[in-house]
Amino acid sequence: MRIVLGVGGGIAAYKVASLLRLFTEAGHDVTVIPTEAATRFVGVATWEALSGHPVSNSVFDAVHTVNHVRLGHEAELIVVAPATADLLARAATGQADDLLTNTLLMAGDCPVLMAPAMHTEMWQHPATQANVETLRSRGVTVLEPASGRLTGADSGPGRLPEPEAIFTAAMALAAATVPSAGAPAAEPDVDAVLAAGPSAAPSVVPPLAGLTVTVSAGGTREPLDPVRFLGNRSSGKQGVALAAAALEAGARVRLLAAHMEVPVPAGVEVVQVETALELRKAALHAAADSNVVIMAAAVADFRPADVSGTKIKKRDDVADPVINLVRNPDILRELVEVRDAASRDQLIVGFAAETGDAGGDVLEYARAKLRRKACDLLVVNQVGRDLVFGEDTNSVVILSRDGSEPQEASGSKSDVAAAVIDRISAELSRAVPPA
Ligand code: CTP
Repeated sequence: MRIVLGVGGGIAAYKVASLLRLFTEAGHDVTVIPTEAATRFVGVATWEALSGHPVSNSVFDAVHTVNHVRLGHEAELIVVAPATADLLARAATGQADDLLTNTLLMAGDCPVLMAPAMHTEMWQHPATQANVETLRSRGVTVLEPASGRLTGADSGPGRLPEPEAIFTAAMALAAATVPSAGAPAAEPDVDAVLAAGPSAAPSVVPPLAGLTVTVSAGGTREPLDPVRFLGNRSSGKQGVALAAAALEAGARVRLLAAHMEVPVPAGVEVVQVETALELRKAALHAAADSNVVIMAAAVADFRPADVSGTKIKKRDDVADPVINLVRNPDILRELVEVRDAASRDQLIVGFAAETGDAGGDVLEYARAKLRRKACDLLVVNQVGRDLVFGEDTNSVVILSRDGSEPQEASGSKSDVAAAVIDRISAELSRAVPPA
């Protein structure tokens, strides 16, 4: 595969030398385009030696070949790492002031992956977040940065994800990319994954390579007024563990993140949501190109019928307020309906949080829920104040719509996530018998 590797001017540029190695050792043809600032961190000679190609950052070098047109048209994948705040801003606003930004504008349908790295304040600044949002809305895959020690004494989100994580995400993106609007999704680029160098990736094809997995996680918050909301106890730990396990299995992973108490794993694409209605919109949108959708979020079943635009005050001259609730849409049920109406080949997995009561036990309620929601798998856990929410361990039963034997899994939330992802992989390989 012909890859353009854009390198931004950040200290993490040195790590990109390892990423370049992973690409070339996997047999890819890589042209490196550093920005002017990047060459202050790692010199042109390093990129030329490691890529085996001449390296330039100016549109005025090799003018006779019209470099940016050729590179933009020929690239089958563009990876930018580290994507600095400046580079994200220039890409988002369509500037064309060096060879890399020119090439990005010439890229057409080519999949583009950007791996940001910067100080936490710069990453969290509304300007950067708006640029990331713009790029994502145009189909660019912008990875979440990792958390940890940054260049100075500071630490937080902003570290470049490890080269192996960027490599895996890039291979998954290339394999999952739809060639043109309306055309069927590309077959997984098994050769590319197989060719992954020994230091980079497992020697066998990861089970979810080439597939896109969307996971919702955390608890929705339904506003009452500008300062208050109705929420729930979900920490997001199980959903985040599922996203990490899907990433590990080689998938391109999109996380629809409601309120969570845990950081997002590096290497996944994140869509932040607040309310059930926002989650519904994001889920329906993401499902359109997902092979697997896992609804692990704790979605509020009801929202306040009226949201006050100003803070609700105590008043002695009027009665205390009563909160009227209206029902939220059942997102999981709707995802199944949309999938079936579109005859889409997609596996949909729900979660069921049950306490059991005098009317029935946990599994009875769960079986009824599986019939109601009609998803393919339902992962059932028993919840209560001290059970599951916020805890690091979980114990679940996986029910299948085809009525096969319930499967139990327990241990850390990562163990449970690995078991769920294994089960999903098994269901997918059953659905597509080998040729
Ligand atoms: N879910 C959803 N939309 C809702 C409520 C829940 O998509 N409005 C999803 C959850 O993400 C989960 C599954 O449905 O995957 C089951 O959630 P749960 O809260 O257990 O079920 P409910 O439908 O809310 O049923 P009940 O609260 O009556 O048990």
